[in-house]
Amino acid sequence: MTQLDIQAVRSQFPQLSPSPTGTVFLDNPGGTQVPQSVIDAVAGYYKTANANVGGAFRTSQRTVKTLSTARAAVAALLNAPDPDNIIFGNNMTSLTFHVARSIGDTIRPGDEIVVTDLDHDANVAPWLDLTKQGAVIRVARFDEKDCTLPADAVCSLINENTRLVAVTHASNAVGTIPDVQSVIRCAHSHGALVYVDAVQYVPHRLCDVQALDCDFLACSSYKFFGPHAGILYARPAALSRFSPHKVRPAPNQAPQCWETGTQNHEGIAGTYAAIKYIASIGDQAPNDVDMFTLRKRIEKSMDAVAHYESVLTARLIAGLQEIDGVKIFGITDPSRFSERLCTVAFTWNRYSPAEIASRLGENGICCWSGNYYAMRLMESLGLQETGGAVRVGPVHYNTFEEIERFLDTLRSFAPGCK
Ligand SMILES: Cc1ncc(COP(=O)(O)O)c(C=O)c1O
Repeated sequence: MTQLDIQAVRSQFPQLSPSPTGTVFLDNPGGTQVPQSVIDAVAGYYKTANANVGGAFRTSQRTVKTLSTARAAVAALLNAPDPDNIIFGNNMTSLTFHVARSIGDTIRPGDEIVVTDLDHDANVAPWLDLTKQGAVIRVARFDEKDCTLPADAVCSLINENTRLVAVTHASNAVGTIPDVQSVIRCAHSHGALVYVDAVQYVPHRLCDVQALDCDFLACSSYKFFGPHAGILYARPAALSRFSPHKVRPAPNQAPQCWETGTQNHEGIAGTYAAIKYIASIGDQAPNDVDMFTLRKRIEKSMDAVAHYESVLTARLIAGLQEIDGVKIFGITDPSRFSERLCTVAFTWNRYSPAEIASRLGENGICCWSGNYYAMRLMESLGLQETGGAVRVGPVHYNTFEEIERFLDTLRSFAPGCK
């Protein structure tokens, strides 16, 4: 097992000041910090390329190269068989609406779509739109006791009419990692496609679209230490069943025909740098490597990240449980931490979630409160009316000292409280 050298990791991020009184970033599920290499890659793109694609001049050719290298690196990150399986876009939400619109063109009244209550609305609302074409939406409920989504809760809704199942790889609110592989197997046995939302999974765990055997998988670079750019993996056999909504002169072949308009080239350049950063976490060796080696390094890094984060989660959850009146939503049993990320949602009977987030913010600790667009989850937990929950989301660059500072600060809001 590779041990993370946290100080070496943090030294790469300008925002992760070495000062112990610096800002504590526990808002990572809403977007992570970026290392200097990502900032340099974005600036470097502007300095040396900065053109549209398809021109007979150097800056345009450099842009084409930037996109193709980044596509190959994303394929390595997700273990996609071919870089052409990767589609870039603005963000996960727009890509999902985009694909859903095309799938919607083929929907007939009575076709069924399965969504889940655990999902971020970005993997629900685009599919709800298909009711306009006559689709019937089936909603899989999660188990409120521990915020898990048993595979059966989804599979029991899948039948011969099911066209697509939309399911999260990991919850952005409570951190649950559902058994997506079983859901995919079940969906495929009924001829349905599966669209996986991996936005929260990718920064924390090794993603493998081939092992999953999913048809679509979406994620977002700004959640994994990169700039704002959306990413979609699409299996060619699934994609070829639909036609993109596109301008007529744009390329007709995938993946470009699915990439609407001019892409965020500088963000894509930064995405490549973010993937190289991930590959370097567990191995500081030079990272100008072939894609096979890049994948191997990513595997090693994510192994170390998962291990470190599970220890961090244990301290975070144990510390929260020691505070009177705190209620955690999700898995709290350490023997089940492989079923969850380190993203923790909680309420405290002393203050509203917004008050807690605001007081923490005044003390230099960033975290979110509310529903973070996991609307149905908050409604089912009965929290929507009372301001949702506070969400604390460490990543591998957070330290135990930061977790202690967060817990001490929280306790200081209620003197005399255990
Ligand atoms: C699980 C999950 N899915 C989808 C999204 C939306 O991603 P984007 O901002 O790239 O549209 C988010 C954003 O927070 C998310 O956490």
